[in-house]
Order: sequence, then C-alpha cells, then structure tokens
Amino acid sequence: MSTSSAASVEAVVESGGDGAARVMGRVEQRMVDLVSGYGELLARHGGQTITAGGKRLRPLLVCIAAGVPVAESDALVRAAVAVELVHSATLVHDDVIDGAALRRGRPTVVATGGRLMAVATGDLLFSRAFAELAAGGEIQPIRILSAAATALAAGELMQREDCWKDSVSQARYLERCRLKTGVLFRAACELGALAGGVPVAALGAFGESIGVAFQLLDDVLDVTGPAERTGKPRGTDLLDGTVTLPLIEARKRDPALAQVDLRALTDAAQAAAICDLIESTGALDFAREQALALVNAAKASLPDALTLAQRRALELVADSVVERYS
Ligand code: IPE
Ligand code: IPE
Ligand code: MG
Ligand code: MG
Repeated sequence: MSTSSAASVEAVVESGGDGAARVMGRVEQRMVDLVSGYGELLARHGGQTITAGGKRLRPLLVCIAAGVPVAESDALVRAAVAVELVHSATLVHDDVIDGAALRRGRPTVVATGGRLMAVATGDLLFSRAFAELAAGGEIQPIRILSAAATALAAGELMQREDCWKDSVSQARYLERCRLKTGVLFRAACELGALAGGVPVAALGAFGESIGVAFQLLDDVLDVTGPAERTGKPRGTDLLDGTVTLPLIEARKRDPALAQVDLRALTDAAQAAAICDLIESTGALDFAREQALALVNAAKASLPDALTLAQRRALELVADSVVERYS
C-alpha cells in the first residue's frame, strides 16, 4: 500500500541516516530468512504475513530510539526483528480472535489456512522473536519483550471481556489500548534506547503514549476506511463486537446509536451505515483530538539530554502516528 503514512515512515528512515536504512534492510532480510527456515508450511503462512509488508513502524522506533544518526549494530537488528516478529505473531492471532478476512490487503492466515494453522504460525513467530533476542546473550532485552507480550495477551483478554457491551468507559478503553498496543511501542523504544545508551525510562514512556495514540487512530480508521487504504474492511470492529472510542463517544452524542445492539449487525452494509452515523456525531474528531493530545504530551516529555537530530526523528514518528491514513 503506498500511502501518506508510508511516505512519512520513509521520511523517518531518511532522518535516521544510512545506518537506519541499512538496519531496516537487514531486518527485512532476517525476517524472510527466519520464516523460510522452518519448513514449507511456515514459509507459506508466515511468509504471507511478513512479505505482505506493513509499515514497519516498531522496528523503525527501535532504530530511532537508539540514537540519530543510527549506528548499525547486530544488537539493534536483533531487537528490531524481535519486536516486528512479536507484532506479526499478534496480528496472526488477532485475526483468528477477530475472525478477520483481510490483513495488509491480503487474505489472513486464518482465512487461507484455518484456525489451527494460524495459531501455530503465530506461536512460531512468537518463539522465533525470543530466540532472536536470546542469541544476543543479554537478559534485559528478553525481560522487556516478555513484559510486552504479557501485556498484549492481557489486552486481548480485556477486549474479549468487553465485547458486545453497550457501555464501556473511556478509561477502560484507554487501558486496553495501552496493554494491547502501547506496551509494544514502549518495548520498541526501550530496546532501542538500551542498545544506544539513551535514557530508557523516558523513551519507554514516550513510546507507550504514541502507541496508545496509534491504536486510537487505528480505531478511527476502522470507521472511516476505505478498505483500499487500510487493507481491512470498514466497520470490522463493529461486526466483531469490539467497542472502541468512536462508538463510546458517539453513543453519548446520539441516543439512537446508544440503542443499537451490535449483535444485530449481520453484514458489511449495515456496519457501514453505523460507521456513517458515528461519523456524523463528530466522535471521530473527538477521538483524533485525544490522539493528538497524547502525541503532543509525548513529544513535550522527551528528555533534554537527547541530541536535536534524535528529538526531530522521534517527533516525526510521533506526528506520523496521528497523520496516518492506513
Ligand atoms: C496493526 O498495527 C495493529 C494495531 C496495533 C493497531 P499496524 O498498523 O502497525 O500494522 P502493520 O504492521 O502496518 O500492518
Ligand atoms: C490490534 O488490535 C491488534 C493487537 C494489538 C494484537 P486491532 O484488532 O484493532 O488491530 P486490527 O484492526 O485488527 O489491525
Ligand atoms: Mg483485529
Ligand atoms: Mg483495529
């Protein structure tokens, strides 16, 4: 998908210098080698996810968090690969849980290979992520990534618990976003900062905030579409009962929407009609404003100790999170 968010990701890679481009190139190659090295089935199903691309935002964050210009190192490549593999594993599993048909513009593993194949593929991607870090011989990166994997699982469980509910608080929704998305962004920043000798806690907090903002935008994009840009059908969250901020806020603004029972929605056309209703309440602008506020606070919290070049690159990533269209 060539979109404006892909363009801004390119700008971030550029701001990271030749080192960032080299690390990102090695990350791609390593992931392809990894999924093709464990038999034909993983090559087919894992490859389906890895070679379909994606924005590669998390490995990019690992690079930029380490320092700008990015100094290429094996530790950085390992960390970036591990984070993107965990992300890819969660997407494969998430599509099983959500019953999703499309991912990155292609049929999902669960749609082509079935549930068992998708669960096993996700598991393998997960385990290779930790093997990648273990190969570096240091314990701290493994601690960081396991904390993120644990939070991700807790976030997915929380999402299941809140499914189909006619009332979910905004605070609870934000905590779910933190667990299922913010904490992996935190891990990406912490791993990079650790490798580059940059303040780990401050960069981690920055990552978590922009990660939550990223999920807020993902939930807005689920309502706006279009599928050609997002790679996922519009209104998917409504159809699988996932209550997100656009709906939470729109229910407050439109009593008719507050009456809608998500279980009664049976097809994409009905979901699209509810998306239009949500949009007409102004709830999407509200959600975008929340995301923007998080990003602005995250940028303002960056420590003074950073070089100007690194600060600029991190600000660019933060802005790309709220300016994205895919
Ligand atoms: C999708 O993440 C899942 C969320 C956390 C919202 P991305 O939008 O980063 O997915 P890819 O990697 O670019 O496909
Ligand atoms: C993100 O949640 C998935 C994980 C963080 C595991 P979503 O369910 O919103 O992601 P998409 O919309 O399927 O990409
Ligand atoms: Mg999903
Ligand atoms: Mg989504």
